[in-house]
Amino acid sequence: MTDWNPDLYRRFAAERRQPFDVLVSLLEPVDGGRVADLGCGPGELTRELHERLRAGETLGIDRSPAMLERATPLAGDGLRFEMGDLATFDGAGSTWDVVHASASLQWATDHQAVLSRWAAALAPGGQLAVQVPANGEHPSHTVMLEVADQLGIIAADDVHVTVQKPERYAEILDELGLDDIHVRLQVFLHHLPSSGDVVEWMKGTALLRIKEAVTAEEFDAYLERYREALLDRIGQRSPYLYAYPRILMVARAPR
Ligand SMILES: C[S@@+](CC[C@H](N)C(=O)[O-])C[C@H]1O[C@@H](n2cnc3c(N)ncnc32)[C@H](O)[C@@H]1O
Repeated sequence: MTDWNPDLYRRFAAERRQPFDVLVSLLEPVDGGRVADLGCGPGELTRELHERLRAGETLGIDRSPAMLERATPLAGDGLRFEMGDLATFDGAGSTWDVVHASASLQWATDHQAVLSRWAAALAPGGQLAVQVPANGEHPSHTVMLEVADQLGIIAADDVHVTVQKPERYAEILDELGLDDIHVRLQVFLHHLPSSGDVVEWMKGTALLRIKEAVTAEEFDAYLERYREALLDRIGQRSPYLYAYPRILMVARAPR
C-alpha cells in the first residue's frame, strides 16, 4: 500500500488545522478523561487535542507507518499512539469520553456502520466529534477522476463516493440515539500561493488513491496530465483561493 508522506501532508498544516480548531471549540473539556483520535496523522493535533481537552489519557490511532513514526516522539504525559484501523474501531475493549476523527472518516466506506461502532465506544455522556471534507465537486477532485478515466486508471474507491450529505449524517447520529447533535457545513478559505499548489495539496492526500493503483511511471504521467487539466480549469492564479467545504459534526451519548 502507498504510504503517506508526513512532510508533504504538513506543508499545508496551517490550512488543515483550521477545521480542527473549529471542531475542538465545539467540545467540552473532559478533565482527566479518555480521548481517542482516529486517523491521527502526524500527531501534533492529537497532542493539542489531549491538552485542550485536559484529558488524562489520549490514544491516537493510524494505519500509516510513516505517520505513526512522525507521531510517536510526541507521546507522553498520557498520550500514546498505536497502529489500528479506524473503520473497525469499537473502543478496543473500553469506553471513551471523546471519540474524535478529523479528516479521516472519508478513507472508510459505509459511514453508517463506522459511526455506529464509534458511538458504541462512547462512555455515558461521551462526545463524538467528526470532520469530513465535502469538496467532491471542486475541480481538484472532478479533474482527478476525469484524468484517471482518460488514462484508464482504475483508482481505489474515490474519497467522496463515501461522503454523505450533512443532513444524512444528522439522521445517522439521531438513529444511533445520540443527543445534542450539531452538524454543519462550513466553507474554509485557504489562500494558497498559487493554483499550482492545489496539485501539491492533492498529492499529500486524495491523489494517494491514484498512486496506489498505478506504477511510478504511470503516476508521473498522470500527474502531468492532472496538473495541465486542473490549471486549465481553475486558471493560473496567484494567490489562489481554495474554497473548501467540510462537514463538522458533534453529538453526545446519553448519560
Ligand atoms: C488527512 S489525514 C488527517 C490527519 C489528522 N487527523 C489531521 O486532521 O490533520 C488522514 C489520516 O487518516 C489515516 N487513515 C486513513 N485510513 C485509515 C484507517 N482505515 N485506519 C486508520 N487510519 C487511517 C491516514 O493514514 C492519515 O494519517
